[in-house]
Amino acid sequence: MTWGAVIVALWCAVTGINGLDNGLALTPPMGWLTWERFRCNTNCERDPENCISEHLVKSMADRMASEGYRDVGYEYVIIDDCWLASERDQNGRLVPDPNRFPSGIKNLSDYVHSKKLKFGIYEDFGKKTCGGYPGSEFYMQTDAESFADWGVDYLKFDGCNSNLYDFPAGYEAMGFFLNKTGRQIFYSCEWPFYKIVYGHSVDFAAVRKTCNLWRNYYDVEDSWSSVSDIIKFWGNNSDIFNKYAGPGGWNDPDMLILGNFGLSYEEERVQMAMWAIMAAPLIMSNDLRRMRSSSKALLQNRNLISINQDKLGIQGSMIQKQNGIQIWRRELSMNRIAMAFLNENSDGTPRFLSFSLVDLKLTSSTYNFTEAFDMKMSSLVTEQKPLEMYVNPHGIQLFVAREIVA
Ligand code: GAL
Repeated sequence: MTWGAVIVALWCAVTGINGLDNGLALTPPMGWLTWERFRCNTNCERDPENCISEHLVKSMADRMASEGYRDVGYEYVIIDDCWLASERDQNGRLVPDPNRFPSGIKNLSDYVHSKKLKFGIYEDFGKKTCGGYPGSEFYMQTDAESFADWGVDYLKFDGCNSNLYDFPAGYEAMGFFLNKTGRQIFYSCEWPFYKIVYGHSVDFAAVRKTCNLWRNYYDVEDSWSSVSDIIKFWGNNSDIFNKYAGPGGWNDPDMLILGNFGLSYEEERVQMAMWAIMAAPLIMSNDLRRMRSSSKALLQNRNLISINQDKLGIQGSMIQKQNGIQIWRRELSMNRIAMAFLNENSDGTPRFLSFSLVDLKLTSSTYNFTEAFDMKMSSLVTEQKPLEMYVNPHGIQLFVAREIVA
């Protein structure tokens, strides 16, 4: 443990920090975030519409409100890295880049709030953010106070340029300072991700006690290989971290990238359905000014959103994998079960699949299976009659099953 961590741990002991208790995240958060689509584009002269700026954030807030996203539950508008000036001010306070955020962060958050949305921001636990801007090390309390003064509702707290051994005490300290401001601030942490990547073990119980959301794996990128790799990691490690998800705190497989360049329609269906099964945050990173109508319809599909937001908050897991077909299951409220059938194969033709109730580990004699994207087509599955379907390559079928009691 470094001296910094010792001091933070002592501070926690003296002040009686005992975990997160902010009343937030009863269901996975929904919103929009700059990173995957807009990265660290700071060149507003060359690319004024897409650089990280107050203009970009305001135009996304406008679309969230006017294009139906807010109405189906997307609420946070979050700026990721690269919003800061290169130095703190003379009082040690964070300042936004003056050219790209000339009205200041408080005005920007007021604007987002005026659209009946919530406002989020990014900082880093270490000396510098991943993009090289001033980090919160040694300034956590000051920064938490700035965020509260500015009306921030959500903090994404990264872990670049820091000491991995300081994470537990340090992330806990920032949670404490956020709570101490008296403002309800959603707390999203990258703590497990860095630990896992560098081969450290993760105390998920401590993470859950501290954070509302925690990233466990690499950044999502705009490709099928990235999305399917994240799903595979989740499937193979369900036993390790699933049980820590539930009202108050969630595992984070990273942003939804529907509407960008890299996914086909089928692959977009997969991401949306799997994020519903995994009780994942529905935080989009895309250009809401330029959305295909098919992507928008998937993102706004109320049936999928209601599976994602199911109030029991049980994270689904992979129950079987064979010949490139994954079967996933999530327990829902009202004795319903969501079941997903994902075809990873690329061989170009839809796969015919047939499963008995025993294959699906369903123990009663009759179930009603309703296709879950549209909730229009249902079929009875019994001990004599299997569940049958075609699943497209890189595609998914999602059902909600309900036991029929004779
Ligand atoms: C990464 C993080 C990304 C993004 C980026 C910003 O570490 O995983 O989601 O926040 O830093 O620089």
